Amino acid sequence: MFIRNAWYMAAFASEIAPGKQIGRKYLGESVVVFRTEGGEIAALEDRCSHRAMPLSAGHVDGNVIRCCYHGVEFDKSGACTRIPNQARIPAAANVRSYPVVEKDQLIWIWMGDAAAADPDDIIDTPEHDDPRWTWKPFNFHVKADWQLIVDNIMDLTHVPYIHARTIGGNPEQHYGADTNVDFDGRKVTLIRHMPNSVPPRSYIDAGGFKGRVDRWQEVRFEPGRGMTLRVNAGGCDVGTGAYEGKRDSGFMLANNHFVTPETETTSHYLWTICTTASKESGVPEVLFAQFFDTITEDEVTLEQQQARINESPDRKFVGIASDGAVNQTRRLLSGMFEAEESILVAAE
Ligand code: FES
Ligand SMILES: [Fe+2]
Repeated sequence: MFIRNAWYMAAFASEIAPGKQIGRKYLGESVVVFRTEGGEIAALEDRCSHRAMPLSAGHVDGNVIRCCYHGVEFDKSGACTRIPNQARIPAAANVRSYPVVEKDQLIWIWMGDAAAADPDDIIDTPEHDDPRWTWKPFNFHVKADWQLIVDNIMDLTHVPYIHARTIGGNPEQHYGADTNVDFDGRKVTLIRHMPNSVPPRSYIDAGGFKGRVDRWQEVRFEPGRGMTLRVNAGGCDVGTGAYEGKRDSGFMLANNHFVTPETETTSHYLWTICTTASKESGVPEVLFAQFFDTITEDEVTLEQQQARINESPDRKFVGIASDGAVNQTRRLLSGMFEAEESILVAAE
């Protein structure tokens, strides 16, 4: 299931230098994302209109990308601007372009109806441009349906099991968490508070805690503003006001998960981990390494799940009590998908 009228993270801005390009598949379509030598971002179908050579194998020259096979050139809009040794350029030589936006050091792409794309809808990730935060980007290619990645974040009861060696902690504390799921028709919010918890290894390393902590995990998912799950998590010494918003004395992290389908069963899982701990403290590097291990644990799980699903794709899942936020999220995404399908049917 692909939802086309939505913003997806295509790449980190740092992945594409001026005059360079990448070839990547999104929602089943091959796309070349390139940066002009002047620094502007563009995305075109990755297929030359002449003989189907991938444009991503070509070269950016000034404001155009040149096919490596016979030298045909295309600008940011997909217009064919030059055919060697030929004056007339037929309109059929143009290729499709996709709306792209560069914001907060991320490149977003819209794979659906270009007329419906509004850059103002794209979620803010202010940590990426705020000097109080230190962050690092990661780009995982996961052999799993993108919806399994969303499920994974929306059901954090997996944390003590899958992440026992990293950010886990005691399963009882996770099940005993004060959990609140809210759905307002556009966004699912999952808030989990774990007062008086024994901090997991990563929190002790990053926050220097000597005793128990009041811990929180807050997940916000608003797919109409980019297929992104924003997770805020952290801990403070017990009773110091974490649940009243006094968190500066504690340890805070923001973990942004950008989920972009590649095919029905493979995904680009781009994520950033951001912390308020200072660079000099050495904490960010510890945290980055621990989260790399943590998300790798998720990746292994997701790929194992997908492999079993592939054996019998029509078999249904059985629901359990912890599925609340996952069910709300799946309903929200199905609603978006069905709304798109009904527009397509009406247009036929
Ligand atoms: S295939 Fe691109 S110029 Fe011929
Ligand atoms: Fe996980």
